[in-house]
Amino acid sequence: MTAGSDAPADAPARTPKGMHDVLWPESARWERLVARFAALVEGAGYGLAITPIVEHVGIFNRGIGEGSDVVGKEMYTFVDRDGQVMALRPEGTAPVVRAYVQHHPVPPWKAWYVAPSFRHENPQHGRYRQHFQLGVEALGPSDADLDVEVIALAFDFIASLGLHQVILKVHSMGNEVCRPGYVELLRAFLAEHRSQLCGPHQARFEQNPLRVLDCKTPECEDVTEAAPRFVDNLCEPCAAHFARVRAGLDALDVPFVVDHRLVRGFDYYTRTTFEFASGAIDAAQNALGGGGRYNGLVEMLGGPPTPGIGFGLGIERILIACDAEGVFATEAPPLHAYVIDVTGGESAVLLTAELRRAGFRVDRGFDGRSMKSQFKSADHSGALVALVIGDRELAEGTVGLNPLRSDGEQRDIPRSDIVDELRALLS
Ligand code: HAM
Repeated sequence: MTAGSDAPADAPARTPKGMHDVLWPESARWERLVARFAALVEGAGYGLAITPIVEHVGIFNRGIGEGSDVVGKEMYTFVDRDGQVMALRPEGTAPVVRAYVQHHPVPPWKAWYVAPSFRHENPQHGRYRQHFQLGVEALGPSDADLDVEVIALAFDFIASLGLHQVILKVHSMGNEVCRPGYVELLRAFLAEHRSQLCGPHQARFEQNPLRVLDCKTPECEDVTEAAPRFVDNLCEPCAAHFARVRAGLDALDVPFVVDHRLVRGFDYYTRTTFEFASGAIDAAQNALGGGGRYNGLVEMLGGPPTPGIGFGLGIERILIACDAEGVFATEAPPLHAYVIDVTGGESAVLLTAELRRAGFRVDRGFDGRSMKSQFKSADHSGALVALVIGDRELAEGTVGLNPLRSDGEQRDIPRSDIVDELRALLS
């Protein structure tokens, strides 16, 4: 069977379920968002990393863990034509760490990315099968100052968009020294309260007690309110690290709450974890982004012991939060000029090219349409002025400059002066 041979021949021309086109002018907002993020993180020493959308499935199985929802239930996997089992990237951290292991750049190594990620979820507003993440990963230092830097970068980015109704939650999940003891303590506590847990967790809390902390049912939330806390059971080095992270955030005036239930669902996390929750959007999808330390991930993927930390921010959710708070509106940069030519000669080709080479944003009419129809297109394009070349203008060596968004009559400009004239007008 060849790929796609079982697809109905009349399959509708639509995006796959849970995936979306992003078209102009909304796509212009995406461009601005990514450019703003790039400027911020590049200013802190992070360089762009572009990794394949597809990886060998083991990169995610080993890194994120086969017991996690993302790998166990949601990952898009397929067998390629060489018989290799591949996966569409469900998140950005494991691929960047794989790249670090493969290319062994000199640490500290700081990378940022903007990447589509794929998770076969039940789509709803803010939860999609393809979403985009903006993220950073920093590999090498175990220093708590780096945790502070990474969290503050995400905070500054979110604040720069004008988002105010966002809460930063931080937590520590300990490490291989203190986590097993805490998990045992939690398991024993949950066993005592088993009958009060939600149905599914009564049956399987023992396999992964940490997941119960994350459970949003009122039953589990009631029980875990009184559960032993990670922060009271950290080993001394983890406790000291977490104290330095909190002190650093305080020093930078980054407001946060310690969320004792913040256990992020990937196996790779150690020590610091954090999440940004929006109060302006539906609670089920209110995480605008999250991240944490993963001091064992490089080794899990076959590299030398190398600590790491990073975050991923969901572009769609950030923009939903922006809409809810009425900030960072969609505004596409307008065209400067639209060239209207009814002479059918080379004039439009030459004038448009000259203006574009001079740095103006310019579009033009095609197909020899009437003056009226080209004016309609010019108006629709959002251009600030129409530049008109009719038979008279051609004969006289002029161009008619026609303001489209402000008052003013059409006036004739000598063809040779048009660049200067337009520059003066737009400044
Ligand atoms: P994550 O929390 O799974 O973390 O995803 C990061 C963000 O991506 C979420 O907070 C959310 O905004 C967005 N997101 C996730 N899934 C969806 C979805 N189905 N639809 C829409 N948006 C979604 C990670 O992926 C980690 N790699 C973050 C990280 C980087 N940790 C360390 N470094």
